[in-house]
Amino acid sequence: MSDTPGARVLVIGSGGREHALAWGLARSALVGEVIVAPGNAGIAALARCLPLPERVEEIAALARAERVDLVVIGPEAPLAAGLADACAALGLSVYGPSAAAARLESSKAHAKAFMARHAIPTSPYGVFDDPAAARRYVREQGAPIVVKVSGLAGGKGVTVAPDVATAELAVDEAFASGHREVVVEGYLAGQEVSLLVVSDGTVALPLRLAQDYKQVGDGDVGPMTGGMGTVAPVDLLDDAGLADVTERIVEPTLAGLRAEGTPLVGTLFVGLMLTAEGPQVLEYNVRFGDPETQVLLPLLETDLFELLRAAAVGRLDDVELRWRSAAAACVVMAAPGYPGAYPLGIPLGIPDDLGPDVVVFHAGTTLAEGGLASAGGRVLAVTAVARDRAAAVRRAYDAVERITFPGAHFRRDIGGRLGVTEAP
Ligand code: GLY
Repeated sequence: MSDTPGARVLVIGSGGREHALAWGLARSALVGEVIVAPGNAGIAALARCLPLPERVEEIAALARAERVDLVVIGPEAPLAAGLADACAALGLSVYGPSAAAARLESSKAHAKAFMARHAIPTSPYGVFDDPAAARRYVREQGAPIVVKVSGLAGGKGVTVAPDVATAELAVDEAFASGHREVVVEGYLAGQEVSLLVVSDGTVALPLRLAQDYKQVGDGDVGPMTGGMGTVAPVDLLDDAGLADVTERIVEPTLAGLRAEGTPLVGTLFVGLMLTAEGPQVLEYNVRFGDPETQVLLPLLETDLFELLRAAAVGRLDDVELRWRSAAAACVVMAAPGYPGAYPLGIPLGIPDDLGPDVVVFHAGTTLAEGGLASAGGRVLAVTAVARDRAAAVRRAYDAVERITFPGAHFRRDIGGRLGVTEAP
């Protein structure tokens, strides 16, 4: 570590997930300074924000110049571009996988082939670089069916098509918007949950189970978004169910990655569908979820720096996860029009006295001359902790009601799939 009192950490990213990471790291007794590149207006209240250089080699050089003890990479794009590799090449400790391991997220076609190679339960699929062949497969399989762009799409490249015409349209739109490969896969019915696992490549520590509300509208209607809200913990899997997921999904995934020479150091995020036939993998991500992180970190009692640093240096067996005996809920406030076109620069007002167990993580904000303003589609991730899920949801919506955000769109049914109905 450097000679400054406490460790220095550089977090890469500018969203609600990175605000939550910076918030968790700033609370660590082991951390002296949190630096975030590029950050946002909320992050700037607790960390030093720096411009983000364009190339991964320049970002790694920034980390070395800042003499940081740990680099934490938030989003998927810099991972896919090789930022972890560039940091490792300079001898820096980094929490986040290599570009080779990140292909599990950056190529859905690769992820499906990986699951097939390692007998990991998932739906049947086809991969297509030709729209006519993809449409033909859709017609052969029938609906409901799922069309995914293979590359990164900010969580918005998935269409769950109730009929063949919708699926064919999704295929055409994917290719028309420049994607070169689509995955068409079987529809899975059930409850969807997010399982995030912190891994040092060998040891894996599962975080609390969370549930994300991905579609833009109440009742899970409308287009997919990056995520409109989350709750944790989720009790849809008991201890035996979690052990089964560990044995049949998490361990074979991490072992498969090691066997293929691409061990995963960072977060393995498994999107699971709990079907009548058992849990199946919907998708992999290789970073913290957004907005899952916003509900998981406020519940985590273990020192976040200790956890991430131990994963980065291969010492996760030294760490024990401890959790608050409580629940958390997050309601995302988005700009009107999101996930389509939306305005920027909407003035925002966040009261100071929302309460000790409410944290407003900024997802897309800036400090303009006139004060705080929106700077993205997802703008605020309003998060509350309380004794149980219903109380956490109620507390989060109470805070939402007190925030000034003209035209804000937010779902009013976060927690609804788990039977929470307290939302206004
Ligand atoms: N909330 C889903 C994701 O982070 O991809």
